[in-house]
Formats: sequence, structure tokens, C-alpha cells
Amino acid sequence: MSSQPKLSILFTKDEIQATVKKLAAEIRRDYLGKHPILIGVLKGSFMFLADLIRHLDFPLEVEFIRLSSYGDRESSGKIKLVHGLQSKVKGRHVLVIEDIVDTGLTTAFVLDYLRRKKPASLKVCALTDKPSRRQIPVNIDYRGLTVPNKFIVGYGLDWDERFRNLPDIYVVENEG
Ligand code: IMP
Repeated sequence: MSSQPKLSILFTKDEIQATVKKLAAEIRRDYLGKHPILIGVLKGSFMFLADLIRHLDFPLEVEFIRLSSYGDRESSGKIKLVHGLQSKVKGRHVLVIEDIVDTGLTTAFVLDYLRRKKPASLKVCALTDKPSRRQIPVNIDYRGLTVPNKFIVGYGLDWDERFRNLPDIYVVENEG
């Protein structure tokens, strides 16, 4: 916990903010007048969602869901919901906000959970995408930055709960 991994910069805060702005423009074009519900997947998406909605100048709602994994998630795919939705999504336009799509298991789980609630539409916006690690296909409708097959931290993303507060995104070069 006290060890200090070596971090090297991958995306600066300016690059991240330019990407957030670009994604917001695409979302605005498609959702203006539709009163969408943006659903952030905790914890990693909180910073991205907070910045994104500051660029969206039309009525929308914000929700969060939180998942936990148990066992060896990547091989077992075992994910469960810890904090579900507080508002009804039936007949609503729903946009899932992800920090990263890595194996795709989390996003696929969330989409399955939401699809069963019969929203009018269901799409995904991901700030980062690590396609080299995908185990299950996930359609990302609004895609930000593509990342290499490395572990990244910062801007909401953590390594053992650390580094979420960094405004830039870094690669963890060694793990302490
Ligand atoms: P999944 O593998 O696509 O299901 O991603 C599950 C979760 O793992 C993401 O929502 C992130 O919280 C976390 N995660 C995956 N890759 C990284 C990474 O490179 N850095 C930090 N968190 C990650």
C-alpha cells in the first residue's frame, strides 16, 4: 500500500478535456430534447461524468450504479450489482457512462441489466477503450481515447484505490 509505482504520462489533462468536449458535442447532437438519463458506473466514471455534463446544456438526469466482482472475475465473469438504479428507466433514453471498457464484462453486465428494464434507447459512452483486452464484444457508441494493453490510473481510474484524483491519465509502469 505504501509502495510507489512508477507512473508515466499517457494523456494530459488538456487532451482529456478536449476529448470530453468532443464526446459532449456528439451526445448533445443526438440527445438534445430527449431528456436522457446518464448512468455513471462507479467508482471510476465519477470525474468523467461530472466534466461531461458541464458541457451538456439541456435537461438530463444523472444516476449511478455500482458493481462488485467476486472470485476471479476475469475468468468467471462473476459480477453483481451493489447499488442499483433509483429512478425508472422504462421508456427513457439511457446513456451508460464508463471510465474504461477493458474486458467488456462490466459493460456487458450493465447493458443486460438495463435492457431488461426496457428503455426507449440504450447506448454507451466510454472515455477510454482498451480493445486488446476484450473478452466479450461491446458496442461503444461514443468512444474517447484508445489505450494500449497497460494498466492506467488517474482521472477517476484507480490502482488499489489510489490515484483517482490525478487530473491526467498515466500508465503504471511497475507495480511497486
Ligand atoms: P472490464 O474489464 O471492462 O469489465 O472493466 C472493469 C473495470 O475494471 C473498469 O470499470 C475499471 O474500473 C477497471 N479497470 C479496467 N482496466 C483498468 C485500468 O487500466 N485502470 C484502472 N481500472 C481499470
